[in-house]
Amino acid sequence: MTGNSDSKKSPGQSRRQGAAAAARSLKVRVKTAKRRKISSTRWLQRQLNDPYVIKAQAKGYRSRAAFKLLQLDAKLTLMKSGDRVIDLGAAPGGWTQVALQKVGPKGRVVGIDLQEIEEIPGADLIQMDFYDAEAPALLKKLLGGEADLVMSDMAAASIGHAQTDHLRIMALAETALAFALEVLAPKGKFVAKVLQGGTEKDLLVRLRENFDKVRHIKPEASRADSAEMYVVATNFHGRETP
Ligand SMILES: C[S@@+](CC[C@H](N)C(=O)[O-])C[C@H]1O[C@@H](n2cnc3c(N)ncnc32)[C@H](O)[C@@H]1O
Repeated sequence: MTGNSDSKKSPGQSRRQGAAAAARSLKVRVKTAKRRKISSTRWLQRQLNDPYVIKAQAKGYRSRAAFKLLQLDAKLTLMKSGDRVIDLGAAPGGWTQVALQKVGPKGRVVGIDLQEIEEIPGADLIQMDFYDAEAPALLKKLLGGEADLVMSDMAAASIGHAQTDHLRIMALAETALAFALEVLAPKGKFVAKVLQGGTEKDLLVRLRENFDKVRHIKPEASRADSAEMYVVATNFHGRETP
């Protein structure tokens, strides 16, 4: 056989594919606008060149974070059809979208965030501080039963002081775990964002006491220059009946 497959394409097809390939290989450069800070320009440039941002847009996910959950799920099968899932720190909604796909119409997904989350059909989403004393009861009510998975991607906005940022993210993970221990069904699962450098000893001890297996995973979609990783605990032992 002679010639390559391109020889069978119409000129229009070849032109479109050529343009798409050129667009893929083109690195988008962002000029520093007068009123834009250098850090914002860098952020914008990174966003525009990030393959997961591009993939998220192509697949209709609201955030590149969706791929982190997809990769965690591919490794450990966190969700199945009919599961009930609580998504802590759900905005803008990438993890909620993935959860809805995994649990299907028989499942249930409930999410909470400080930020407003644009409606996602099939999910119950509330705008509230997870630290609000009323949040746990409201989430439980919306779920209408025990959860199969409690997942937290919550992160407080960085204040640029590493130690404080670390403490704040660990406090969110600990509060998420305390809630998970109240709401999970036996054999349930828990996922939380933590920072490299070690999950706090107390958190690890509590996880190991309550779950069969505790792992730390940094999914490929988690940026290499970020200290973020996820602690994944599986097979919840269940609460002791009083
Ligand atoms: C990395 S984003 C989550 C991205 C999300 N998983 C997705 O896929 O779109 C972290 C979120 O945690 C939320 N968050 C931080 N502290 C919170 C709190 N105390 N209560 C509720 N949400 C919180 C932030 O508002 C932010 O939207």
